[in-house]
Amino acid sequence: MSTPRSHRGILFVGHGSRDAQAIAEVHRFVDAYREAHPERRVGLGFVELTAPALPEALDALASEVEEVLVVPLFLFTAKHVKNDIPLALATARENHPGVRFLAVKAFGVHPDLAQLAFERTQARTGPLSAQDAARTVVVMLGRGSSDPDANGDFCKLTRLYAEGRGFAQVQPAFVGIAKPSLEEALEWVARARPERILVAPYLLFTGVLLQKIHAQVALFAERYPWLRAEVAPHLADGSMSPLVQHVDRRIEEALAGGVPLPCDGCQYRVPLAGLQQNVGGLKALLWSIRHRETHTQAAPHPHAHRAMEKHVLVCGNADCAERGSVALIEALRRKLKEVGKARTVRITRTACMGRCGEGPTVAVYPDGIWYRGVTEADARELVDEHLVGDRLVSRLVDNIMQ
Ligand code: FES
Repeated sequence: MSTPRSHRGILFVGHGSRDAQAIAEVHRFVDAYREAHPERRVGLGFVELTAPALPEALDALASEVEEVLVVPLFLFTAKHVKNDIPLALATARENHPGVRFLAVKAFGVHPDLAQLAFERTQARTGPLSAQDAARTVVVMLGRGSSDPDANGDFCKLTRLYAEGRGFAQVQPAFVGIAKPSLEEALEWVARARPERILVAPYLLFTGVLLQKIHAQVALFAERYPWLRAEVAPHLADGSMSPLVQHVDRRIEEALAGGVPLPCDGCQYRVPLAGLQQNVGGLKALLWSIRHRETHTQAAPHPHAHRAMEKHVLVCGNADCAERGSVALIEALRRKLKEVGKARTVRITRTACMGRCGEGPTVAVYPDGIWYRGVTEADARELVDEHLVGDRLVSRLVDNIMQ
């Protein structure tokens, strides 16, 4: 028997922002959803920067309903959707064994979203004749991600946007992380000397990125005053109805048993070129755990994406020192500097670690891996494999903390 609707709660999950306008816009979307579905209990939580944090918001809603649908307010499926939300869901399932939790897909690729992006660009240009469109280049601008799924989906969405709309060119570009950057894309398209360049930010909500985009386009316009370059509105800058309708579609899919995550090209399942080390997901899971702890335990605080990644303890007491731990510490520090990790991996020389006779003793946290008999000659492998690659150096493992 299906759960009565009044017993169903919808939890929207936003990224979080330092920009008050961005958060106000997220609330405007949630209010629009509530208005469309007054019968549903609706909550909101954030992955970072903004309260309430996702685990608290999940807890609060799960205490009031029998079924919680978790809806990511994310355009594509990357780290936050693949790791942070499942991690929070796993804890919530343990804490609320009587509640059914369902994960809903991110917005993803859909022709209606391409249409919405087109309508937002039209809000800037007005209706364009076929001739005007043929003289216009659109730079579609995505957030950019280290996850190939998200970048690939963005390019597919860009193609859907371009189909049949008659623009001279529709060039995908990224605000950060992935290439080409906005700056590079603008330089490329300027060479074709179009009459008009329209930068279309494919971003759900406003925020600091949008300010950055406007500043970059203004700089470009100064350098190329003979080209008309403008920024179109982002997706939530206008009526919320199309977004509410799309979320409804994703919720219905989840209720019908749809799979919330794309698996075919997922870097955590498939060895993609250059990302083979991510298969298995250990690195991503550790990242999510650290990320969650940083944001739940230390508030309020500046954002810590550049926080320490690993802490390496090396015993410097008499027995280990005699077996070469001092030279090992130096070799580890040298190697970390070489690979650009000196600021994110800390080496600390400790007192006796209780493994005398088996040293030099090394422990790596937060992974909880202890090594024994590590010598200066092992420093390179330890850095390359474990501290950078997140793969254990199994021949040296002494203990794995549970
Ligand atoms: S001296 Fe290194 S473990 Fe005791």
